[in-house]
Amino acid sequence: MRAPLPVILDVDTGVDDACAILLAGMHPAIDLRAVTCVGGNAPLADVVRNTLTVLDVLGRPDVPVAAGADRPLLEAPADARHVHGADGMGDLGRPFSTRTPDPRHAVELLRDLLRAAAAERRPITLIPLAPLTTIALLLRTYPDVAPGIARILFMGGSAATGNATASAEFNVFHDPEAAAIVLGACGQLDIPVTMYGLDVFYQPVVTRAEAEDLIAHDPTGPAGLGGALIDFQCRRFASPAATIGDAGAVCAAIDPDGLDTTRLPVRVELAGRYTRGRTIVDHRDTGLDLAHDPHGPADVLVDVACAVAADRYATLWRTTIRGGR
Ligand code: BDR
Ligand code: CA
Repeated sequence: MRAPLPVILDVDTGVDDACAILLAGMHPAIDLRAVTCVGGNAPLADVVRNTLTVLDVLGRPDVPVAAGADRPLLEAPADARHVHGADGMGDLGRPFSTRTPDPRHAVELLRDLLRAAAAERRPITLIPLAPLTTIALLLRTYPDVAPGIARILFMGGSAATGNATASAEFNVFHDPEAAAIVLGACGQLDIPVTMYGLDVFYQPVVTRAEAEDLIAHDPTGPAGLGGALIDFQCRRFASPAATIGDAGAVCAAIDPDGLDTTRLPVRVELAGRYTRGRTIVDHRDTGLDLAHDPHGPADVLVDVACAVAADRYATLWRTTIRGGR
């Protein structure tokens, strides 16, 4: 059997971030080294509390949690509580964690763990599921951590449509400068990068009936929490099924064959009244003479997720949080 994959999640928990933490904290193929938090779906303090609450439900006090950036680099802070509930995690009325997070800033926790991983020659897969503010600060402040990063597999962006705006996906729109810095740094520091964007994000879904089964299986445990989070989304959007969202990116780390990717140049639009925060994925034939494109070559090639084995990923999520049964 292969050794479990060392992973760090960066989250803005977040209903679907919670779904992702449940999967990463339970699947035997993942060695969850830490979870870092950033302001996004909810204000930072709520994100930290929600994240600790999920880890409490998992019985994982061993996983360090640290608070990172509480606002975007340039933009004013904004949240998505209209999607994720007033508490940022579905307003389920469950008890919150009283655990205290790691005293280090998330940038310092990441620095320490990634430097150690580089020294051990066991680089970590970094999975950001939120605005990229903390990761941008990390790569700008401590670029020497690059050998400790096996890959950045981020949920964000889109080759086609947006959700926060017609053009832009929420995580990139929330902090476009951070996304541009991270993609640029991946190019400069030779960090492989995969974009799990909106082109696949909504496809792995769990039905309301399956959510009820999860709740009945173990009401107060991980299955019950996961089921309640899906049920919350179904009720909020009056829909018979809901996406596992960010958890799909964790599925891609566990089961990479379930994701079709194409390596393409990607840029982040930083201007544009209606297009700010858009990820510009260049689908042009590289055999064409692009010498007359005034923008020149992009800084980075990204493995852009184009298609997903949606049922396989949804089943992976459900069976894992049900305890493998
Ligand atoms: C992304 O934004 C957040 O609302 C979700 O948690 C996900 O990371 C989708 O655009
Ligand atoms: Ca998220």
